[in-house]
Amino acid sequence: MAEPTDRLVEKFTTSFPFDQRLYPYDIAGSIAHCQMLAKQRIISQSEQKRIITALEQIRIELDEGRFRALPTDEDIHMAVERRLIEKIGAVGGKLHTARSRNDQVAVDLRLFLRAETDAIVSQLHALQRAFATGAKRNRTLAMPGYTHLQPAQPVLLAHHLLAYAQMLGRDIDRFRDLRKRIDVLPLGSGALAGTTFPIDRAFVARKLGFKHISENSMDAVGDRDFAVEFLAAGAIVGMHLSRFSEDLILWASQEFHFVDLPDAFATGSSIMPQKKNPDVAELVRGKSGRLFGNLMALLTTLKGLPLTYNRDLQEDKEPVFDSVDTLKASLQVLNAMLPKLRFNAARLATAATSGFTLATELADYLSTKGVPFRDAHAVVGAIVRHCLEHHIGLEDIPLVELRRFSSRFEADVTSWLSSVAAIERRRAIGGTASINIDRQLKGLGV
Ligand code: ARG
Repeated sequence: MAEPTDRLVEKFTTSFPFDQRLYPYDIAGSIAHCQMLAKQRIISQSEQKRIITALEQIRIELDEGRFRALPTDEDIHMAVERRLIEKIGAVGGKLHTARSRNDQVAVDLRLFLRAETDAIVSQLHALQRAFATGAKRNRTLAMPGYTHLQPAQPVLLAHHLLAYAQMLGRDIDRFRDLRKRIDVLPLGSGALAGTTFPIDRAFVARKLGFKHISENSMDAVGDRDFAVEFLAAGAIVGMHLSRFSEDLILWASQEFHFVDLPDAFATGSSIMPQKKNPDVAELVRGKSGRLFGNLMALLTTLKGLPLTYNRDLQEDKEPVFDSVDTLKASLQVLNAMLPKLRFNAARLATAATSGFTLATELADYLSTKGVPFRDAHAVVGAIVRHCLEHHIGLEDIPLVELRRFSSRFEADVTSWLSSVAAIERRRAIGGTASINIDRQLKGLGV
């Protein structure tokens, strides 16, 4: 090109300010590539040695914040190469033999996401364990289960907490599964068509720990499916964490008062002295928006792209980085907060049976006495209306009065009508009975 790049274009097109965080992977990829070039006698042993020594020095400069970027550094790949040539002269230019930035950036992003996937999976495991431990610690507490946010039937708090452990289990599965599709070496694809040099891709794959090697160079330089999958799995985690946060926000409200937030994880108001706000949960809930947005951003960027590499692909990085950071921060703070939640046993017990949560039990009772369930449902509906009129609960009606609604009621109805009995009758796999809590805890190894 005859003219230098306009300053404005330089500033507009650079990715260095954000992609510099890829440097450990960029340098690891370059070292493996360089070793392969020497092994294949594409460069000499002494050239290899000089290049690798300099790359390691550059890594230290970056580690220690001593690396001086120039406005002309288009991205981390160009910055490292520029510095390499500054350090060892023209021989540094040999590193880019049989390689393009298109396969280089793809390998960097895959190495980055593979490491971050592993980190996130272990955080998900820790959070899942925290839910299971909380369930175990509070394993006898009953609470109302809700549908439509209306009190529905009594459940064990442990069952509610373990529902989140189940969700996190699926999240772990998703990340583990998509990791297989991250774990593919794109390096060796060249700009798009492959390379004329006698490279050894299997050697590079071994050095970088890749399980698979891409089969199609055009696909390999343009593919960001693995990043989309990562963002999608991250968005689902965000949705799960947001739902838990919403439960927590409700539970911590004056109206519910099921839980006390630890002081260290709540904030006060600058104007209202009585306030203790659930900001952590609110922010985790709020941040789910970014996680969804990042997925949509990348999908939209990819949608209209012709094969193969287009500069649009540079837009993959910020959403990916943001999702990684958002997920890790949210998981970290929830992991720290969860063991500190103190549940209010008395409030939970009272709430467990208020709002006629035992109405289904009464209908089930009549069914066991031979009344068809639909008829039993109607009888109990009438009983509930009676209770509402007289401002009493189901358990306050004497047997004689119950028998006015159905002659099938007998003395054993009293013991039938308790939250513990209601919970412990739900023994079929997946129900809230404590036998199934044990089963879930065992499944989680807690
Ligand atoms: N900074 C670029 C990116 O993030 C690196 C690849 C550049 N390739 C190119 N042909 N301009 O995608």
